[in-house]
Amino acid sequence: MAILPVLQFPDPRLRVIAKPVTKVDDSLLRLIDNMFETMYAAPGVGLAAIQVNVHKRLLIVDVSTDQSEPYVFINPKFKPLEGEKEYDEGCLSIPGFYETVTRPDKIWVSALDRNNKIFEMECDGLLSVCIQHEIDHLDGKLFVDYLTKLKRNTIRRKLEKQQRLSSQSTSA
Ligand code: NI
Repeated sequence: MAILPVLQFPDPRLRVIAKPVTKVDDSLLRLIDNMFETMYAAPGVGLAAIQVNVHKRLLIVDVSTDQSEPYVFINPKFKPLEGEKEYDEGCLSIPGFYETVTRPDKIWVSALDRNNKIFEMECDGLLSVCIQHEIDHLDGKLFVDYLTKLKRNTIRRKLEKQQRLSSQSTSA
């Protein structure tokens, strides 16, 4: 397994709309394993393939505290069922920033799992927030898109500055 580089906002590749997975094959399974290793190492609770520059409709989540609830969603579909929830969201592509986002609470979601089997589930709370956040990634959307333009631009400027500083220090 390997830890993969994660694209950082405002990288335009995070805005590409991901394409459906057409085949669950060995190379996709290897990608899934590497995504889990990358997410757990960060640490994070969710990761979409687009964040590691693979533009396929694939995401993983694990909201447990002991890496015991790994979920794989391939070509996921979801619909909101009831309620709304506010949550302070973060993102491995927007490191160090947490902002409140309001989303539907209870949702229905269906996808293929890593065995190429269709499953469906209903969930709420953190798992629901996380799945919706990752599904947004598949459509080129980031949690900062829910904030005001002013807040989004402030975050972008701070991250661009950090990225400039870290590229200078690696080349020095
Ligand atoms: Ni994210």
